Amino acid sequence: MTDTRPNDLSTFLLGTPGTGVLITGGGSGIGRATAVALAEVGRPVAVWDIDGPGAEQTAARCRELGVTAHAAVVDVADSSAVPGAVADAAAALGSLGGFVHAAGVSGAATVDDLDDEIWDATLNVNLRAAAVIGRHLLPPFREAGPGSAIVLISSIEGLFGSSVLTAYCASKGGVLGVMRSLAQRYALEGFRVNAVCPGAVVTPMLEPAFELPGFREEVEARTPLRRIAEPSEIADPIRFLLSDQASFVTGAHLTVDGGMTAVTAI
Ligand SMILES: NC(=O)c1ccc[n+]([C@@H]2O[C@H](COP(=O)([O-])OP(=O)(O)OC[C@H]3O[C@@H](n4cnc5c(N)ncnc54)[C@H](O)[C@@H]3O)[C@@H](O)[C@H]2O)c1
Repeated sequence: MTDTRPNDLSTFLLGTPGTGVLITGGGSGIGRATAVALAEVGRPVAVWDIDGPGAEQTAARCRELGVTAHAAVVDVADSSAVPGAVADAAAALGSLGGFVHAAGVSGAATVDDLDDEIWDATLNVNLRAAAVIGRHLLPPFREAGPGSAIVLISSIEGLFGSSVLTAYCASKGGVLGVMRSLAQRYALEGFRVNAVCPGAVVTPMLEPAFELPGFREEVEARTPLRRIAEPSEIADPIRFLLSDQASFVTGAHLTVDGGMTAVTAI
């Protein structure tokens, strides 16, 4: 049977709203790859990060692809900074109809070493910011209209435990709870909210782990696809979830882990 789908990506994603998308943690890794993937289909992007040069580099790459791109230094753990930064982003892009929460920290510690500082720093960035920013996006989403959508980045550690990531596991499980709660609330307005749960991805966050002898080999051995993901392999499913191609998908999490969590033993 002949595949009649157009093979040009922008045509295939024609249903994608052309409204601007806010990406936290867009200065690196999965956030950067997501901004670029969205720019490839013509969506303007606002890139927030505590790493100013990183955010600017991402925005510059997106501008090369022909879209409006706004970069800003925003600490997503500072809730008081959010309303003004959202207003700036909406003004710079002309509309805001998408949000990807990719800012994250690993907060690596077993429960033996856990203290309030690690707990608060991890939960405030990974979890609280998702709800705080989501809340402040309601007015611009209403202006952008139906079709607006959110994708929160959880993790396979939101689904399963890891002894060395106590606060991280709590934050990523919490992200799924926030996602489901916002999905019900935002559905009243015609907006969708979903999450992705990546497995291991080659980004600066995982660099310390890759330095541990045997870490990479062990992860690859436990992954049916036998490799670690590139950031673009998480960005593409995020772009799909933001697009009208996913118009009946809300309150869902998509696991993007090369099959790791589908199997109990390999
Ligand atoms: N890399 C992986 O294997 C993996 C796996 C599962 C989930 N994730 C999740 O994906 C998301 C992106 O991580 P990544 O792997 O691209 O890591 P990364 O370190 O490359 O990117 C994270 C970005 O978040 C920014 N950031 C951190 N704290 C911030 C704050 N307070 N305010 C604004 N920005 C802040 C960092 O500066 C950095 O640019 C995170 O939520 C992470 O937990 C990553």
